[in-house]
Amino acid sequence: MRKFVIDQQVEDIEMPENLKLNTFLQEFHSNCTHPACSFGFYGFAFGQSPFPVPEPVKNALIANADKGAYAAVPGIQKLREAISQYNKHNFRFDVDPSRVYVGPGTKELIFNLLEILHGTVILPTPAWLGYLPQIRYLKKNYHMLHVAKNGKITPNELEHLTLRLHDRQKILILNNPNNPTGLVYSQLELEEITDVCRKHNIIVISDEIYALTTYDINKFVSMGKIYPEGTFVTNGLSKSHAAGGYRLGYVIFPQHATDLKQQFKKILATEYTATSTPIQHAAIAGFSDSREMDEYFEITRKIHQIMGEYSYNILNKIEGVKTTKPESTFYLLADFNAYTDDFLANKIMTSQKFSESLIQHPYHTALVGGDSLVLERTDFSARIAFIDYNGAKAMENYVNNTPKTSSDKIEFVKNNAPKIVDGLTMINRYLDDLKQKRISSSQKNKEAVHTR
Ligand SMILES: Cc1ncc(COP(=O)(O)O)c(C=O)c1O
Repeated sequence: MRKFVIDQQVEDIEMPENLKLNTFLQEFHSNCTHPACSFGFYGFAFGQSPFPVPEPVKNALIANADKGAYAAVPGIQKLREAISQYNKHNFRFDVDPSRVYVGPGTKELIFNLLEILHGTVILPTPAWLGYLPQIRYLKKNYHMLHVAKNGKITPNELEHLTLRLHDRQKILILNNPNNPTGLVYSQLELEEITDVCRKHNIIVISDEIYALTTYDINKFVSMGKIYPEGTFVTNGLSKSHAAGGYRLGYVIFPQHATDLKQQFKKILATEYTATSTPIQHAAIAGFSDSREMDEYFEITRKIHQIMGEYSYNILNKIEGVKTTKPESTFYLLADFNAYTDDFLANKIMTSQKFSESLIQHPYHTALVGGDSLVLERTDFSARIAFIDYNGAKAMENYVNNTPKTSSDKIEFVKNNAPKIVDGLTMINRYLDDLKQKRISSSQKNKEAVHTR
């Protein structure tokens, strides 16, 4: 067989976590021969919206399937205008369409920005698992900024770190609303971060892909509004429009960044020419103001909120478990470190081992452990994605019988998302078993000492 020589730079890259996750689920679950494994697993691991693609988006894609010509590099003008209008309508953020560039997903656009921007990257952790492999691949200098206990970076921590960096430009990756915590920065918090950025020449890539999933939409403020001369805002169809597979994102450039946009255009033209034309037409429908789209966003974010509140309440009732209280997204970050002694006594030394032991029989529960969130390997925190239910059915039931009281909402979860209910119970059972096993093994040890 022919042996291919692979470029050393590629060999050196670690497997990105999203691929690792798939391999891991296959390895630990698909190979399970126990009859109980056939039902699958309680899925708290994947970061994918459960809802159907909005009808106007789907219909526009069908209607434009014949658009075979390449589009302009920065995107179709009508789409750039729709995105500008979308930002004004939803986030009260005025953006000239010439500041909008369209690309095949925000992941790619963030990569392109990191390619063209000089500077040491500041990565707050815990973080979405997508950034680090890109930073490493591009061989950029980077520093982690571990966030304080409340799950958000503070201006003091940012300044403290920045004073140690000697680069003439720094790049802060700010993910707001945040994956994995589900938290949203307030306007005041963004203003305080901006003061530090202005003082120390930090530019910001503000990954706002979850903006429109914010439960109380008035709480979301774009960093692009607060720090217009230094922020690159990224957003797209993947989360709020449940269309990750469409691969469409956009970046809003800072004000007065004309030269930079020219350089960026060069990179886009070199790497992918333009984004798929039919998909851009579908996106025009997704970003244009319409009652149908407004209703879609309103219903889906309310359902995310109901699922989030339920998961938060159940997990925080478990002794020793603390979680963030999500205000957006479909995630929360759960801290299981109070069980560290139990983990260690059961020979579970890392968060990777924790998620491996939880996927196996009899627990069948998938979550993303701390090491995949750019935390220490021994940090027993995990991301819980509350998405394992039939989104289309839940939307229909929500419209037909909108839950109003807290008990209506609990009923709604029980009826529409039984796997979330059972999966959370399973996490509780797993922790109980862990504790029991430790107690019984320490009793056995004591007995062994006595009988000696
Ligand atoms: C924080 C964050 N940013 C970006 C992305 C990727 O977005 P896209 O599908 O637009 O590449 C994800 C997807 O999980 C995410 O969680």
